[in-house]
Amino acid sequence: MLNVKEFIPRVAGLAAAQARFETEYPAYRATSALDGLRAGEYQRLEAEGHVYLDYTGGGLYAASQVRAHHALLERHVFGNPHSQNPTSLAMTERIEAVRACVLDYFNASPDEYTLIFTPNASGAIKLVGEAYPFTPGGHFLLAADNHNSTNGVREFARARGAQVTYIPVTPPQLRLDPRALPGYLALGRPGADNLLAYLAQSNYSGVQHPLELIALAQARGWDVLLDAAAFVPTNRLDLSRWKPDFVPLSFYKIFGYPTGIGALIVRKRALAKLRRPWFAGGAITMVSVRAGKHRLWPTVTGFEDGTVNYLNIPAVRIGLEHIERIGLEVIQQRVRLLTEWLLENLLALRHSGGRPLVKIHGPQNMHCRGATLAMNFYDPGGRPWDVFAVEQLANAERISLRTGCFCNPGASEIAHDLPRDGLDAFIESEPLPIPPRLNDYMLARYGQPASATRVSLGLVTNFADVYAFYAFASSFLNRPAGAA
Ligand SMILES: Cc1ncc(COP(=O)(O)O)c(C=O)c1O
Repeated sequence: MLNVKEFIPRVAGLAAAQARFETEYPAYRATSALDGLRAGEYQRLEAEGHVYLDYTGGGLYAASQVRAHHALLERHVFGNPHSQNPTSLAMTERIEAVRACVLDYFNASPDEYTLIFTPNASGAIKLVGEAYPFTPGGHFLLAADNHNSTNGVREFARARGAQVTYIPVTPPQLRLDPRALPGYLALGRPGADNLLAYLAQSNYSGVQHPLELIALAQARGWDVLLDAAAFVPTNRLDLSRWKPDFVPLSFYKIFGYPTGIGALIVRKRALAKLRRPWFAGGAITMVSVRAGKHRLWPTVTGFEDGTVNYLNIPAVRIGLEHIERIGLEVIQQRVRLLTEWLLENLLALRHSGGRPLVKIHGPQNMHCRGATLAMNFYDPGGRPWDVFAVEQLANAERISLRTGCFCNPGASEIAHDLPRDGLDAFIESEPLPIPPRLNDYMLARYGQPASATRVSLGLVTNFADVYAFYAFASSFLNRPAGAA
């Protein structure tokens, strides 16, 4: 195991770079409580010598969250909440308290919103997709850079005859074109059930799409699904100000622990529109085998299939309290400053011949963007580095980053300008190679990569982390691609 003393000197020049950074970004000092937090609660990062830059993949938990949760489990007897006995009632009471606490965290009035516990954000999106009243004449409109779990909803929409339309995002910033939006919103037939889905923050490019689009779309008769999974770990979503109908998210992305729990925060009037295609234990108030009929619970219980992850739900509250104690604004400020520094410095990297080393897919400055950066490295001759070679080299430095399309094929296809016929041909090839090496195929056929490298910052990212990545990126300067 590597320890911090071996690790830190490995990144030469860190102390001087940090001093320069703190002079250039004096506001960073105001976030120094996070250094104390990291030293006390996230020591395992240093103890194992990790540079963790995959917060959009999963957040990191504090040691005290795990201790507090285990202490709670050690102290109490909790039963399956579907019964009426004392241990069951104790569990039900806690689950309801956590439900209220999450709504409160997002400033969602319990008169207007309610919350369904799901296994993850994908589970929350699927609940909407399978139960939304798509019909011929209805429309499913979605931004091209949605996560695959939202792309999947198009299959429900198509199967029930609704029209499916993608709104493109425009490279290189990968934003929605505000001038085109009214035209897309006009596609919804008045009186029909029309659903718009988009990301509050892209898990690919970090772009933050305008929350103003929610009210704009609703005024034109659309229900709005706002995927907040990549946004809420470092940004405040205030549901007293913004009123999307459906908000899916995963808690592990916010505070790391527990995994296996997500939520659909849903407006009560939108929930009333949903028609579940099946029922499960726990979700029904009455079912008859002989009569062949069932009645779902008329509340959120009707959407929670089987037994919820009840022993872990109290850990959600512990996690939210942890974030509240730190202050989401402090986290947001820190990742913003670090992202700005990293972005500027990566964009400034040039080979000695003058060509840029890095191409960033997404906003090139901090205007309406979060702390997720997708990029490709190019060699002095302009040839792309294979992202999987980049990942292997990063692994050797104990840098955790991500490569591929990050479950966001729309953003990736637009960022790399992948031709439709090539995509068609590849997806229909028989047999489809497993794993499907779209990147190799596009490189061979069009000289264009289909994959990128992503770094994402979060809760306890510090300057040493971003500097380690910058130093890693710099090691590609003046190197021919493939010389890994
Ligand atoms: C924007 C976005 N939406 C949805 C998801 C799906 O989350 P989960 O895998 O927890 O279901 C992710 C996961 O990375 C995401 O980034």
